[in-house]
Amino acid sequence: MGLITGYWATGTLGAAASHSLFTHLEDGATSADQLAARAGISQRGAQTLLDGLVSLGLVELRDGHYRNTAEASTFLVEGRSTCLSGFAQLKLAHMEAMAGLPDVVRAGGPLADATVEVADNPHWEELVQALAAQSAPVAEIAADTLRLADAGEISILDIGGGSGIYSAVWLERNPAARSTQADWGPINAIAYRLLAERGLADRFSRIDGDFHTTDFGTSAHDIVVYSHIAHQEGPEDNVAIFAKIRSALKPGGTLVICDYIVDDDRSGPPFPLMFAAEMLLKSKQGGTWRRADYRAWLAKAGFDDVSFQPTASPAALVFAR
Ligand SMILES: C[S@@+](CC[C@H](N)C(=O)[O-])C[C@H]1O[C@@H](n2cnc3c(N)ncnc32)[C@H](O)[C@@H]1O
Repeated sequence: MGLITGYWATGTLGAAASHSLFTHLEDGATSADQLAARAGISQRGAQTLLDGLVSLGLVELRDGHYRNTAEASTFLVEGRSTCLSGFAQLKLAHMEAMAGLPDVVRAGGPLADATVEVADNPHWEELVQALAAQSAPVAEIAADTLRLADAGEISILDIGGGSGIYSAVWLERNPAARSTQADWGPINAIAYRLLAERGLADRFSRIDGDFHTTDFGTSAHDIVVYSHIAHQEGPEDNVAIFAKIRSALKPGGTLVICDYIVDDDRSGPPFPLMFAAEMLLKSKQGGTWRRADYRAWLAKAGFDDVSFQPTASPAALVFAR
């Protein structure tokens, strides 16, 4: 029953996030009446959401007062770098598309134009900002592994960098580093604005357009990032882009891939296995790829040193040299 009604959780969490309930609770509201007044929603609606959030383990009730659990406080309060409330709202909006999954499964892919193949698709504008909170901790982990703070005057290329979160985290860590992002023009503009807000725009440049045809240069970069891109591409495109990246890297440079990666026998982990349905809905050739796939594609593209690093998030890192 829990699985069959799983959309109740997406709906309750997405609705609570839409009305900033976690932020109001953090700011001191403790009852349905107070939440209703602060959020501008009905008392009946507030009580219903609170009941659902207690059921989900995101809000706790003590002596008649509601408050966020530690997890909700970390991941759902607005203004925190770890806030996933935007992502919760985005997933609520995607629920209608999921209702079309039976037809998409029959057809083997999206019935209309696939989300990821449409140039300048407005889908990305919502997604990349919602995704930033998920990518930020992974960018920090990669920065530690690569010791980027001490790497000196390095050049970074971020392919499909979205919100520019990797550039933001890494340029903050290393004041001598410079970064270039290859993405659609409107998305690069969002990244530029977000980096400017952090005082980093003077070390950030942009290449607008389709990264399949963008020239990444030759021996131009120390680090190339490919985060949450491999899953939208088919095997041939991933190999072609990896080969272009190999040429764009300086000798000794590193390709950093972040993605939802499944075990070679496809027995886990749970999140990447389930994510394959998103790619069936949204892409013509995407999927969740196995470690063996990455190893084979990277070898074909000329990388001979490949290592994998799990993270506490559902995404794993791959380092290729
Ligand atoms: C899932 S988001 C990943 C954002 C970021 N790398 C991260 O991990 O948070 C995918 C990004 O790739 C960009 N993108 C997708 N297809 C593209 C293409 N063909 N050419 C240029 N950018 C593309 C989108 O605009 C979006 O910014």
